Amino acid sequence: MGWKETYWFLKPTAVCFGFVCIISVRLCSGDLRYSIPEEMRRGAVVGKITQDLGIDSKSLSARKPRLDFEGSKRYCDVNPQSGELTVNERIDREALCGQKLSCAIHFDFFLESPLELLRITLEIQDINDNAPKFRNEAINLEIQESAHKGSRFSIDEAHDPDVGINAVQSYTLSSSENFVLAVHTSADQGKYAEIVLENELDREKQDRLSLVLSAYDGGSPRRTGTVVINVRVLDTNDNMPIFTHALYEVSVPENTALHSVLVQVSANDADEGANGEVAYEFSYIPPDAESLFSIDQKTGEIKVQGEIDFEESSSYELRVKAKDGAGQAATCKVIIKILDMNDNSPVIIIKSLNTPVPEDLPPGSEVGIIYVQDKDSTANGKIRCSTGQNSPLKLVPSVKNHFTLVTVTHLDRESQSEYNITITASDEGSPPLSSSKTLHLSVADVNDNPPVFEEQSYSAHVKENNKAGSSVCRVAARDPDWRQNGTVVYSLSPSDVSGAPVSSFVSINGDTGVLHAVRSFDYEQLKSFKVLVLARDNGSPPLSSNVSVSVWISDENDNSPQILYPSPEGHSFMTEMVPKAAQSGSLVSKVIAVDADSGQNAWLSYHMVKATEPGLFTIGEHSGEIRTQRDISESDHMKQNLVLSVRDNGQPSLSVTCTVYLLISDNLAELPELKDMSYEESSSKLTFYLIIALVSVSTFFLTFIIIVLAVRFCHRRKSRLLFDGAVAIPSAYLPPNYAEVEGAGTLRSSYNYDAYLTTGSRTSDFKFITSYSDRTLPADLTLKKTHASVEDMEGFDGAGNDSQVWHFTS
Ligand SMILES: *[C@@H]1O[C@H](CO)[C@@H](O)[C@H](O)[C@H]1NC(C)=O
Ligand SMILES: *[C@@H]1O[C@H](CO)[C@@H](O)[C@H](O)[C@H]1NC(C)=O
Ligand SMILES: *[C@@H]1O[C@H](CO)[C@@H](O)[C@H](O)[C@H]1NC(C)=O
Repeated sequence: MGWKETYWFLKPTAVCFGFVCIISVRLCSGDLRYSIPEEMRRGAVVGKITQDLGIDSKSLSARKPRLDFEGSKRYCDVNPQSGELTVNERIDREALCGQKLSCAIHFDFFLESPLELLRITLEIQDINDNAPKFRNEAINLEIQESAHKGSRFSIDEAHDPDVGINAVQSYTLSSSENFVLAVHTSADQGKYAEIVLENELDREKQDRLSLVLSAYDGGSPRRTGTVVINVRVLDTNDNMPIFTHALYEVSVPENTALHSVLVQVSANDADEGANGEVAYEFSYIPPDAESLFSIDQKTGEIKVQGEIDFEESSSYELRVKAKDGAGQAATCKVIIKILDMNDNSPVIIIKSLNTPVPEDLPPGSEVGIIYVQDKDSTANGKIRCSTGQNSPLKLVPSVKNHFTLVTVTHLDRESQSEYNITITASDEGSPPLSSSKTLHLSVADVNDNPPVFEEQSYSAHVKENNKAGSSVCRVAARDPDWRQNGTVVYSLSPSDVSGAPVSSFVSINGDTGVLHAVRSFDYEQLKSFKVLVLARDNGSPPLSSNVSVSVWISDENDNSPQILYPSPEGHSFMTEMVPKAAQSGSLVSKVIAVDADSGQNAWLSYHMVKATEPGLFTIGEHSGEIRTQRDISESDHMKQNLVLSVRDNGQPSLSVTCTVYLLISDNLAELPELKDMSYEESSSKLTFYLIIALVSVSTFFLTFIIIVLAVRFCHRRKSRLLFDGAVAIPSAYLPPNYAEVEGAGTLRSSYNYDAYLTTGSRTSDFKFITSYSDRTLPADLTLKKTHASVEDMEGFDGAGNDSQVWHFTS
């Protein structure tokens, strides 16, 4: 409405420039010229032709007005009644004329009757109906963050199809820390904008910026067009890697498995891409740790690569370098603390050991020192140490982890000479580790044991007549001590045996303990003796003990029986008288024999070997009594000879023979026949010697008797006393055998003597002797003879044994 009114009030003659000034020009040449703004609505009146041409509006319709356009579009129309020119089509100046500053539509106006042609020019004026517009909705810029201050970045200008003042007049930029706007006018008066870097970019702070650039035109109202400027900040390597921690500290138990990750270091690099890619490496690693740890170049994981041993080092200090692609680097420190695990057993070291130890060491003596080492620390390295049960040693803790070995008990080499002592050490870790060591302790000998004889006493039995040098017995003493302390030497304790030094009887082998006879023993002389044997060891000082050895000499049948009566040699002229009236069983005579041996060896038996009249006489096997076996008859020969043998019971037995002459007669007058008898029985030669002997002996005796008688006369009384004892002749017969075994197996002398006197032959002796000499002689004669035979035996009587002394007291 405003438009129309304005249009109508303004005079077309005036050309006016203004904001809403629409000029309608009437050309004098007859052409009409209108000026309208573009984009008027349909039907809007452009002008009143009738008025402008001076034509009566009433006749106009009769003249058939018509508009003729060159193109297909009929922009205007004319109302034949009112003569008004109206807008028939949308008129867009930008479409019709583009950027031309002036824009007009030309068309013809026809009138008939008369035909009139008028050229009408319709000037189209621009209105601000278009906003400035950028080619793209967004502009992408890539700017290095290193771009300097003042750098300019031009932006495509905004375009506004409107012209003149309605075209782009100015730009504005959304506020930004980094950029400011600079607007320039181009040669064609176009305005274009640049953004200028005012503050330097930091990709790491802001890698993208969004700016809004607005373009304004000069219309009223102003129209704007905007574009978003996306700025991408390109990275430059302006950042170095930065570790998340300057110091990494980690505690790791020793013996951690291979390839386990201990710690991961991490460094960040704000830069992008290769500039921000961090590679890790050790910048310093102690030489001893080089084989233990490795670092993953990419991830920064520090892994175990070798065996970590607390005992080697309890901590490691490493430096790790992080380097980005362009070589910027940073370092951090990594401290790896190793935790102790109980992985070391205690080690027992024997510092000193006094072995062998003497057995007389008092309990509590120090024998050695051991040291126990455990590389672990704290409880893992705390040691408990012990010796086994029943050990003779104990451990006494001393200065740090040193122990002294001390004896607990008395040692005795003889019961145990060596010990294997197991020392066990364990730590207090969990689980605890332990180890043990065996030490060998030997006990040295001390001469603390005397030799001990195997038996309390020894007795040895030796047969008489042994060879000198033969062994008698063996004594043995044991000494459990070692070597010379236990070496036993035997010796005889000096003493006397029946007046002679014992060494003349036996000797001892000092080494073997064998007793040897030094001489041949005679049982009949010595029946037993005692020897004291000493056993001494070779220690220093030596110890000794003694034992008594009884040596018993046993009898051997080394003595033949000895016939005391009748004289065994057969030289005896003793003849037994047998009364003719003797009856059977009457005792005629008795053979008396002794045997120096004892026991069985002296067990005598009597046998008849030969008889003149066999069957007349018999001899008691054990008694030796000769008895008549039958009554003597007249027919029996007067002279009877009996050959008798006496045997002992030894093995082999010894025997002796004798002859007994018997005369069966009641009268001594028959004696002469005796000669015949003796001659008859002996060889003539023997008889001859016998006579000589008898004569000489008789002579000798005669003189001897005279002397004796003289002496006796002086000692008569004394002799009588001695004689008295012997007069008491037992009337009983002898026991079956003469030898009576006494304690030592010896004939009791007094008994022997008695036996001799009780032979009952005294009468015959007297008879026999009286034929040659004085009646007082026979006792002496017999004594003498007997004495002579006894003298032989006296040599045996070394012991002076009373039982062996023969007393002849008649
Ligand atoms: C001690 O050990 C040794 C060797 O191992 C062995 O010959 C000896 O018989 C042992 N002694 C004892 C008393 O166990
Ligand atoms: C014997 O004992 C003594 C101490 O009585 C000792 O000194 C010596 O070494 C021992 N001899 C041997 C061979 O053991
Ligand atoms: C024999 O031993 C005993 C005790 O054992 C002792 O009293 C005596 O003196 C020793 N005799 C000799 C001769 O050594």
